[in-house]
Amino acid sequence: MTKKPEDLRSHRWFGVETMRSANHRSRLMQLGFGQPEFRGKPVIGIINTWSDLMHCHGHFRERAQDVKRGVWQAGGVPMEIPAMALPEVFQKPSTMLYRNFLAMETEEIARSLPLDGLVLMGGCDKTGPALIMGAISMGIPAIYVPAGPMLRGNWRGKKLGSGSDVWKYYSELRAGTIKQSDWNEMEAGLSRSAGTCMTAGTASTMAIAAEALGLTLPGAASIPAVDSAHPRMAAAAGSRIVGMVWEDLTVTKLLDQRSLDNAVAATMAFGGSTNAIPHLIAIARRAGIAMDLERFDAISARVPLIANLRPNGDTHLMEDFFYAGGSRGFLATLAPHLALDAVTVNGTLGAQIEGAEVYDRDVIRGLDHPFYPEGGVAILRGSLAPDGAVIKHSAASPEKLRHTGPAVVFEDYNDLDARLDDPNLNVTADSVLVLRQAGPQGGPGFPEWGMMPIPKKLLAQGVRDMVRVSDARMSGTSYGTCVLHVAPEAALGGPLALVRDGDMISLDVPGRRIDLLVDEAELAARRAAWTPRVAPQQRGWTALYQRSVGQADTGCDLDFLERGEATPEPEI
Ligand code: FES
Ligand code: MG
Repeated sequence: MTKKPEDLRSHRWFGVETMRSANHRSRLMQLGFGQPEFRGKPVIGIINTWSDLMHCHGHFRERAQDVKRGVWQAGGVPMEIPAMALPEVFQKPSTMLYRNFLAMETEEIARSLPLDGLVLMGGCDKTGPALIMGAISMGIPAIYVPAGPMLRGNWRGKKLGSGSDVWKYYSELRAGTIKQSDWNEMEAGLSRSAGTCMTAGTASTMAIAAEALGLTLPGAASIPAVDSAHPRMAAAAGSRIVGMVWEDLTVTKLLDQRSLDNAVAATMAFGGSTNAIPHLIAIARRAGIAMDLERFDAISARVPLIANLRPNGDTHLMEDFFYAGGSRGFLATLAPHLALDAVTVNGTLGAQIEGAEVYDRDVIRGLDHPFYPEGGVAILRGSLAPDGAVIKHSAASPEKLRHTGPAVVFEDYNDLDARLDDPNLNVTADSVLVLRQAGPQGGPGFPEWGMMPIPKKLLAQGVRDMVRVSDARMSGTSYGTCVLHVAPEAALGGPLALVRDGDMISLDVPGRRIDLLVDEAELAARRAAWTPRVAPQQRGWTALYQRSVGQADTGCDLDFLERGEATPEPEI
């Protein structure tokens, strides 16, 4: 214990003898708390990203009660505080537009209120990184409680995976191989309980990354949302944060180069979502730690993919992963590639995974028989993406990883929607579909449009994958040969803005290249004639976002949140 009650932040609200402080105490008493219940105790903010429209956090009101139980038991005072929920499926145009909003909200809640530590309750895709980014910038102790994956989907005895099977069966429906009634029945079996997508999508990826960063209790990342181990973990996290406050174990003390590299290695070995790249870069930059696309690629090249989960594999889901040994078994398997002395909320990473076992080596593979010999993600550069692009090659078609074909260009998502299934569209299986206006500025908000659907006439011919290139992201549950996050984006006049129908595009994943095969004189002429297509928004959050957001390769944070002196604590 390094802190005394007088050292607590909340002491400045409740512990001193001033008129203001008396008023603060009186207002806690108004809420029904007696002075012995709160005086001299750490006040823990439970930042809860619950809402009635947050499909993945349906258990969070109840789970917050479990966290509170843990906080009380350890001698703290829990205060549940709602924050914007970011429901991945409902929120338009993209939850990514609001990741930085939630990060800023988290930081400002913590700064302006009498809080000594935070329990971060998130899970659905952008919520986890947002909460963590905010907690880093505020610089007080925080622990992350991931929502946990939902139960496996089930349809006619087959396992269904969130997202992945929606794309898969929708293609079959469009190809006419299943009926509308089959589809309707499947729809009812897809999402069976509270919890996040149970494929290796962004939510599971970022939960694993958070555990590898040292921000969760051991094993927290993979506990299914409705398993009784989940409320036990939540209560334990509530207890632990109280100790962290006394120890002054702030988030920034947990994060360093070792923990960031551990998170990247875990993400790569998990075959995780491409979304982890901008999220982990943003987290690193907030914490002042070096992280860029090259570091991802270098770690990806040395770490094999050992989690046999959809969308990389064919069958297994997060529930299977949990039974197979879960995140502890997974990280223990990966131990030779991890810095085990990295500090966590609970000691060291090595201590967190000590003794962990794996019970099903088909799901969590050994390093000697990995699912894929290298990490799931590759960083590409070339004349089409001077500042980088990303491909999840573990979920792509091996025969398409080296491919040259003519571009079929869509100006934006509406254009794609209007023309994709046109029988006269000049497209073959060898074409390269190109989509622009889907980056951080162009979307706006960097939507998940990168897995463009296959044109209907090609589906009918049996085509199920094509090379696709965009400045968009794609869902972590998506698959196919999709080149994503092209930077600079088209809205800023990057080379993607200059592509025309019929231009040859060359993809070479082993060589880490993506090139537009048009000579420089022609490109210069096109560049000189180029004008921005979409005017920036004029009001509200989107205007602020477009003024300040960075490109994909730098993590898409807002410039004034990524940098700058800490805002001083309000004095009165
Ligand atoms: Fe919430 Fe996938 S929609 S985690
Ligand atoms: Mg997603």
